[in-house]
Formats: sequence, structure tokens, C-alpha cells
Amino acid sequence: MRATIKLIAMKLIAMKLIAMKLNVMAVLALSVLLTIVSASALTPVGLAAELSVQAAQSSGVQLFELHCAGCHAQGGNIVRRGKTLKLKALQRYQMDSTAAIAEIVAQGKGNMSAYQDRLSPAEIQAVTDYVLEQANQNWK
Ligand code: HEC
Repeated sequence: MRATIKLIAMKLIAMKLIAMKLNVMAVLALSVLLTIVSASALTPVGLAAELSVQAAQSSGVQLFELHCAGCHAQGGNIVRRGKTLKLKALQRYQMDSTAAIAEIVAQGKGNMSAYQDRLSPAEIQAVTDYVLEQANQNWK
């Protein structure tokens, strides 16, 4: 008699344990589900926009490293020392605008060659934005 009671009690405990385990699993499954749902809350459009902003930024950096850094590393100018890409110099030479930078990149000037045959308008825009952005952050 005693033994059967003990057995029933143990069975009950075991069942409770299994139920608890199931609960834990249910909570886990739910949290996984919630993560998936909240991740997909980033709509495809929003995601695409974010990705394209990132792509434009990285291509601005990449274009600069590839085409400009040889003379303008860290926003300097190793050919004409005063004509740096720092905000003060850009202001002094009226180069502190998208239009002016895009123009010097496209047409070239003095010892700086023109890039309109090598860079697309979109690439000129991207590298121009990068230069202005960096100038505003003092190339840090
Ligand atoms: C071969 C070296 C060289 C390369 C490469 C070069 N530049 Fe220049 N850059 C110069 C020189 C030299 C000047 C000064 C031109 C002048 O006014 O006589 C200049 C001037 C500038 C200015 C105006 C700076 C000021 O203070 O007036 C900007 C903006 C500029 N470059 C951006 C770029 C960008 C963006 C690239 C890459 C697409 C680039 N440069 C590539 C040599 C270079």
C-alpha cells in the first residue's frame, strides 16, 4: 500500500517535471517566434533602404580610398599643401558645397585630374558626400 502511494507520488512529481520542461520549451519556442516576428517587422522596403544607404556610404569610402587618398589621405593634400579637404580650406576656396566638390572631381583642376571619365555621376555624388561628411567631422 505504502509502496503504491510512493509510486503514485513519484509519478506525479515526474509528470510535473515533464510539464515544467514543456513549459520551458514553450517559452523558448515563443521567444524564438517573437524574435522572428520582430525581425520581420523591418519591412522589405525599410531593409532595402537601409542596405542602400550602407552601400552608398561604403562606396563613398571605397571610391575615396581608391581615387583620392593617394593625394588626399586624411583629408590632406600632398601636392598643393594649402588645398586640403579640411572644412577651413574648403571654405576658404569656396569648395564647401556639393556642387563645387562634384565639379572639381568631374572636371579636375591644376594638378588634380578630372574623374568624369572614370566615375559615374552617382559615384561622383557618393565620393562628394563622403568628402563633405568627413570635412564636417574634421576627418576623424
Ligand atoms: C594626383 C593627386 C590628386 C588626386 C588623386 C586627387 N586630387 Fe583633389 N586635389 C589635388 C590638387 C593638386 C588640388 C588643388 C587644385 C588647385 O586648386 O590647383 C586638389 C583639390 C581638391 C579639392 C579642393 C580643395 C581645396 O581646399 O580647395 C577637392 C574638394 C578635391 N581635390 C577632391 C578630390 C577628390 C574627391 C578626389 C578623388 C576623386 C581627388 N581630389 C583626387 C590633387 C589630387
